[in-house]
Amino acid sequence: MYKEKIDMSRLPKHIAFIMDGNGRWAQARGQQRSFGHTAGADTLHAVVRCAKNLGIPYVTFYAFSTENWNRPKEEVNALLKLMVKHLEEELFMKDNVRFRLIGDIERLPQDMLDSCNHLMECTKNNTAITMVVAFSYSTHWEMEQAVKQIAQEVKDGKLDVEDITDKTIDEHMATNFMPDPELLIRTGGEQRLSNFLLWQTAYSELYFTDTYWPDFDDECLYKAIVDYQGRQRRFGKTGEQVAEEK
Ligand code: FPP
Repeated sequence: MYKEKIDMSRLPKHIAFIMDGNGRWAQARGQQRSFGHTAGADTLHAVVRCAKNLGIPYVTFYAFSTENWNRPKEEVNALLKLMVKHLEEELFMKDNVRFRLIGDIERLPQDMLDSCNHLMECTKNNTAITMVVAFSYSTHWEMEQAVKQIAQEVKDGKLDVEDITDKTIDEHMATNFMPDPELLIRTGGEQRLSNFLLWQTAYSELYFTDTYWPDFDDECLYKAIVDYQGRQRRFGKTGEQVAEEK
């Protein structure tokens, strides 16, 4: 229904997702929270396929935040296991998907790190879509490491303080290989960003839906894109200025 309404010439180049509501989806079915995460991982693959078929070049998923390390140990372990299970090379090669991981990898168990590095290496030349998973990620962590790197370059005499611009910060963020998201979608009814891509979403359109992540299907994605395309993106200018530019 919504697919026909999409203007294919004005698709976002990058959509970011906060996949919320897995726990509540499972609990509503009398199941453990990890049952919801398993269903959520299937949704993630379906969303990648749908975005790929539309021709969207980048999708980023918030799979595990820095703060999620504080969840009960069983849930953390279930999420780590689930992630490793879904890093199957064939899955990515079959669909020509490039995989990238962003986050504080020093906290990841070695087997997961090995799988991620292997997958990033063997999918690096895939061209259909780039799927980015933010795992052990938060913008506060990302800013901290960017500031440390920049300070070190100044200390080493490689960079002058006067030459630091917002571009310098961009270049030191974990997302420096892709454009900022034009659209950020959060499922599960909450309306906040939860330490996710705070620097990169300065001008993103935000879309919130009550749908729990495991129920987020192709139609939901089409609807969000149609909504996004109905908005006027002004980047601080007036509506009249933007209209004149068209
Ligand atoms: C938030 O729902 C979701 C998460 C903390 C985990 C999301 C992870 C996945 C969907 C699996 C990732 C898999 C791969 C392959 C990257 P919640 O548990 O906070 O839900 P609630 O708000 O209903 O409790």
